[in-house]
Amino acid sequence: MFRRLVFLGPPGVGKGTQARRLAAEFSLAHISTGDILRETIKQNTPLAQKVRSYMERGTLVPDEVVLDLLLERMRQPDVRRGYILDGYPRNIKQAYDLEKAGVAVEVVVYFYADEETLIKRISGRRTCRLCWRVYNIYYDPPKVDGRCECGGELFQRSDDREDVVRARLTEYEQKTSPLVQHYKGKGLLCEVDGGGTPEDVYRRLLQAIEAV
Ligand code: AP5
Repeated sequence: MFRRLVFLGPPGVGKGTQARRLAAEFSLAHISTGDILRETIKQNTPLAQKVRSYMERGTLVPDEVVLDLLLERMRQPDVRRGYILDGYPRNIKQAYDLEKAGVAVEVVVYFYADEETLIKRISGRRTCRLCWRVYNIYYDPPKVDGRCECGGELFQRSDDREDVVRARLTEYEQKTSPLVQHYKGKGLLCEVDGGGTPEDVYRRLLQAIEAV
């Protein structure tokens, strides 16, 4: 089993859902730059304001900001057992930054799905304010409306509004999707159909990784 993975794919394809499951099963660190940035914007600092302004528009946060935060996370001890980078790199420059920093990548898993599926999944996503569990009102609804199992309130991410989602999809097409060819050329890419249930996708993910 690979222990240094990158998860690549458009917003809402299920990278976070699959990364959490694979990380739990194989004791890997799940490193989501989106989650790290969402933690960052909770603080009342100039950096938080800067990051928020990019995320609220659905555009990529500047490379040097994300790299610093990522490398800080990579210094934590749990990373030694292996990791899944979920949402990093997100453009060619970030791929080179990763190489330069000496962060090893054994396989890049590219998840894909049609746009209708992505938009429905994103519009249905709800997250718990307390434990960060992710639900979906269409596919994985909470037992009690608006409440997590832990009792926390569920909220919709501010960048999941329709206009911001359009901007994120465009940003993905223009800046992130070239990474598919980049990693294919390096012989690191494995492709996984992200359609169907989370269980279907997880099964395909394990098969794809084993077949590399
Ligand atoms: P980030 O948080 O990384 O968002 P994203 O890549 O747009 O991905 P999502 O979190 O929307 O989707 P996902 O693929 O993880 O899907 P999920 O599993 O949640 O980034 C947010 C922002 O941060 C960016 O726009 C940017 O501004 C900034 N940023 C982050 N990284 C950066 C970087 N490296 N450089 C610069 N800026 C950066 O699933 C979605 C929903 O669908 C959930 O409700 C889930 O329950 C449901 N679901 C999942 N799988 C299935 C399934 N198979 N069937 C049915 N429902 C499903």
